[in-house]
Amino acid sequence: MTKTLRSVRRLATLLACAAGFAAGGSALAAGGAGLQHANVSLDDVASMQRGARLFFNYCAGCHSLQYLRYSRIAEDLQLDPKDVEKNFMFAGGKIGDHAISTLSAADGTAWFGKAPPDLSLEARSKGVDWIYTYLKSFHVDPTRPLGWNNTLFENASMPNVLWELQGVQVLAPKGEAHGDGQAAGAHGSSPFALRSPGSQTPEQFDQTVRDITAFLQYAGEPAALKRESMGVWVLLYLAFFTFLAYLLKHEFWKDVH
Ligand code: HEC
Repeated sequence: MTKTLRSVRRLATLLACAAGFAAGGSALAAGGAGLQHANVSLDDVASMQRGARLFFNYCAGCHSLQYLRYSRIAEDLQLDPKDVEKNFMFAGGKIGDHAISTLSAADGTAWFGKAPPDLSLEARSKGVDWIYTYLKSFHVDPTRPLGWNNTLFENASMPNVLWELQGVQVLAPKGEAHGDGQAAGAHGSSPFALRSPGSQTPEQFDQTVRDITAFLQYAGEPAALKRESMGVWVLLYLAFFTFLAYLLKHEFWKDVH
């Protein structure tokens, strides 16, 4: 009997380890000094849907997602392909096309000094917290060609495309920083002050940026959505058959004891 108990316990430990692995993967991708926690989840389909809409409205004019087809986005994020064609594919094309920006690399370089990079793998290379913090860290800087700078990515040649939503942020003079929820530091007060408010409150804007980040996380690994839902079934399957094996063993040894 103690033997049975021991093996059941060992199996339970194994199962717990497997579950730990599944959870640990996303924890590893997080973290990093000075970054705000993006707090995104691949379970939140609504957030990724909003993020997709925002991405194609505010980002896709310059950035591509070269590995992702519009049809795949529709399928994975449970969107009507007709809506995707109407709302995401401004330059026309077919639903099976990859999400390629109409901005050529040459024009990008001519206009911004640097071609906007493809963002397919951005969430994997920089991490979601980096993207989240980056999009919240633009501030007015008259010395820059486009009038914007970024505290996380010094002298980035990207303009603050979300300024109408966020409002106009300036660097607060030292010692006068406001803790207005727009902090770029992980803790404490923000290095920014809001010179003029945007159409969204700071809380709404955080959610907007979170949604875009969630969509980019999905874009970095579309298969993760399916894998995560499958993982649950694999674990349930394992647990069920462990239970069956236990019952079977019980049945076999009944007469011996
Ligand atoms: C007007 C063109 C334009 C738009 C619109 C735009 N970007 Fe950019 N973006 C750029 C350029 C140019 C760079 C390159 C900056 C550099 O390297 O100096 C860049 C860089 C980035 C980077 C950093 C890439 C890296 O790792 O070096 C991220 C992340 C990013 N953009 C996200 C976004 C998101 C999200 C949106 C939509 C909310 C967006 N961008 C909209 C032009 C644009």
